[in-house]
Amino acid sequence: KTSGPLVGKKVVITAGGTVERIDPVRYISNDSSGKMGFALARAARAMGAEVTLIAARTDEAPPLDPAIHLVRVESAQDMYEAVMDRWTNCDIMVKAAAVADYRPRQSSESKIKKSGDTMTLELVKTTDILESLGKNKDKQFLIGFAAETGNAEFFARDKLIRKNLDLVVANDVAMEGAGFGTDTNIVKVYDAEGLVLDLPLASKDEVARRILRLAADRVAGALI
Ligand code: PMT
Repeated sequence: KTSGPLVGKKVVITAGGTVERIDPVRYISNDSSGKMGFALARAARAMGAEVTLIAARTDEAPPLDPAIHLVRVESAQDMYEAVMDRWTNCDIMVKAAAVADYRPRQSSESKIKKSGDTMTLELVKTTDILESLGKNKDKQFLIGFAAETGNAEFFARDKLIRKNLDLVVANDVAMEGAGFGTDTNIVKVYDAEGLVLDLPLASKDEVARRILRLAADRVAGALI
């Protein structure tokens, strides 16, 4: 594609839910289907960007477009490495993936056998990818998501400030038609000053286009 507001821009999108292994047949994950991230990847491509899609576990297949460079990952640690590898050369990063905050301290190489009546899994924190990006930000435009069940504005704006984001997409996943697994979403987008985009129920494709148009405008503005 040779025209569009993102021509010449390298856009990296993360999608899906990370998988944190307990043993070879069991894991901890979440309900992310990948739909929001895939919609963002398609929209960025349609706007002319050079797109890399870093996808963890998803319910459906990623976009087949050969122009979208697909990187498959499993765990939060894999995603951290894949994202960091591409950070220096990235213009816009959109972190739509649902990344585990904790992983099992140990992952067994063989299937854990049933034994006692109770079993305890010890979890340790994963690396916060978004925070690491924010700390190492140079010219990149960084967009985070915040999936919340209540008080979405407060938590989203707190993430924006603490993690040094340019925009945060607040997703109240408790609302009907929003969040995990659906084809639609309901989001509010904030920058450091406040609300910049209020999107009532819309398809994830439309939400993706609106978020990227906003990012494209801001990135273009910064160059003038
Ligand atoms: O995939 P779908 O079914 O379409 O659902 C879409 C979605 C609900 C997953 C998506 O819209 C969304 O809200 N994604 C973010 C989910 C999430 O993990 O939110 P969070 O508030 O826990 O994390 C905040 C941000 O930090 C996210 O951008 C996340 O990618 C990032 N993060 C979290 C933990 C971690 N260790 N590293 C991170 O970078």
